[in-house]
Amino acid sequence: MGRDIKLAFLLWSLLCCASDFEDSISADIAFVKNSWLWRRGLRLRHNANLFHLGGCWMHDSLVQYRNYPYNHCCCDEWKRSYRCWTETPATQPRQTFRYQCCAYLYGPGTPCLNRARDTRLQFPGLPVLKVRLVPSDFPYRSYFPNLLTEAHLLEPLHGQNGAPGPTLCVADIGAGNGVDSVALSLMGHVVVSLEQNARELQLLKANRMLNNVSFEIVSGDFTMTNLTAASLLEANGGQPFDVIVANSLTYLPQEVFFGLLDLVERVGTQDFVWLLICGREVYDLFDTQRANRELAMSRFELVDAVTFANVGNAFESDVQMGQVRVCALQRRGRSPNAWRYRWPRARAKEMVRRGAACKPPLWRCSADSFLSAT
Ligand SMILES: C[S@@+](CC[C@H](N)C(=O)[O-])C[C@H]1O[C@@H](n2cnc3c(N)ncnc32)[C@H](O)[C@@H]1O
Repeated sequence: MGRDIKLAFLLWSLLCCASDFEDSISADIAFVKNSWLWRRGLRLRHNANLFHLGGCWMHDSLVQYRNYPYNHCCCDEWKRSYRCWTETPATQPRQTFRYQCCAYLYGPGTPCLNRARDTRLQFPGLPVLKVRLVPSDFPYRSYFPNLLTEAHLLEPLHGQNGAPGPTLCVADIGAGNGVDSVALSLMGHVVVSLEQNARELQLLKANRMLNNVSFEIVSGDFTMTNLTAASLLEANGGQPFDVIVANSLTYLPQEVFFGLLDLVERVGTQDFVWLLICGREVYDLFDTQRANRELAMSRFELVDAVTFANVGNAFESDVQMGQVRVCALQRRGRSPNAWRYRWPRARAKEMVRRGAACKPPLWRCSADSFLSAT
C-alpha cells in the first residue's frame, strides 16, 4: 500500500508539473472541434454506454490508469489483461466486460481488433483505411491521422503567406506500418516513406496496396546520412521536402537520433516544418526521451507547440493523459521575415490554459468536451 502511495506521488509529480521546456512556447491545450471518433466510439455494440460499464478503463486515479489503461486492458493478450476485469485473482474475469469495453466498431479500440487480419480505420474526411498492423515489433498509436484531419495540422502550410502550396512533399521517416503515409497520401500529398526494418517494410507495402495509394518507399537507414538523403531526394524527383514526419522515434539511442537530425536538415526545404510529436511518453516514467526532444529543439527552432485533446482514440493512454503534443520545428537562422508555422487556434473548440483544474485525465479540463458527447 505504502509503495502504491509513493508510486502515485511520483507519477503525479511527473505528470502534473509541466517542464520549463514544454512551457517555453505555449501551454495551450486545444480541444478540436470535431471529435468524430469520440462520438462514434461511444456507441458500443449492443448500444451500451461506456461510462456505465464499471469494468472499463475510465478510472479517475492516475495509478489505476497506469495499471489498467486501454492499451493494456483491450490490446494485450487475455492473460495479461486479466487484472482489468476482475477485482480479486480468485474471481473469474468478466469476459463480457472486456468484450463490451474493447470490441466495438471503427472507433476507439479498432487497432486492437483483428490482430491476425486486416483492420479498418476511419479518419474524418478520408475513406475507410484497410490496414495491416501485424506482425510488428512496434505498438501502433492511431492519433496522428486524426491530428492531420480533425486537428488540421497541415492547414498553415496551405499556400498562405508564402507557405508551400496545398500539395505538399512529405518525408515520413521511420514510417513503420505506413498508416501515416497512407493518410497523407489520401489527403493528396506527395509522400516518400523511409524504413529499414524488413517486417515494417512489408507492412508498409501491404498498406500502400490495400489502400490503393501510390507513394515511394525507400528502404534505408537514416544514420547513413549521405546515402539515405540522396535516396530520399531522388525518390522525390530531386526536390527537398516541405514537411517532415518522424513519429515515435524519440525512444532511439541518442547517437541514432543524431542521425535523424542530420537527415532532416539535409532533406528539408528552407522553410520546412517538422511536426514532432513532443509529449512525454506515458510509459517513460523518468522521461528519458526528453534528452532527444531537447536535441531536436537545439538543432531546430521551436516555432509553435500545442497540446491536443479530444483527438484520436479517446481511450489511448497518451490521449487521456494529455500527452498528445505537437511541436513545430523549423530551420534556425532563417530571415526574420521567413514564413513561420503557427497552428490555427481559431480551429479549436476550446482553448484551456493548463491550470490547477486541468490535470490528467484530461476530461477533467472540460467535462463539456469530453463527457457530454452522445
Ligand atoms: C516506433 S516505430 C514508429 C513507426 C511509425 N512512425 C509510427 O509512428 O507508427 C519506429 C520505426 O522507426 C524505424 N527505424 C528505427 N531506426 C531506424 C533507422 N536508423 N533508419 C530507418 N528506420 C528506422 C523502425 O524500424 C520502426 O519502424
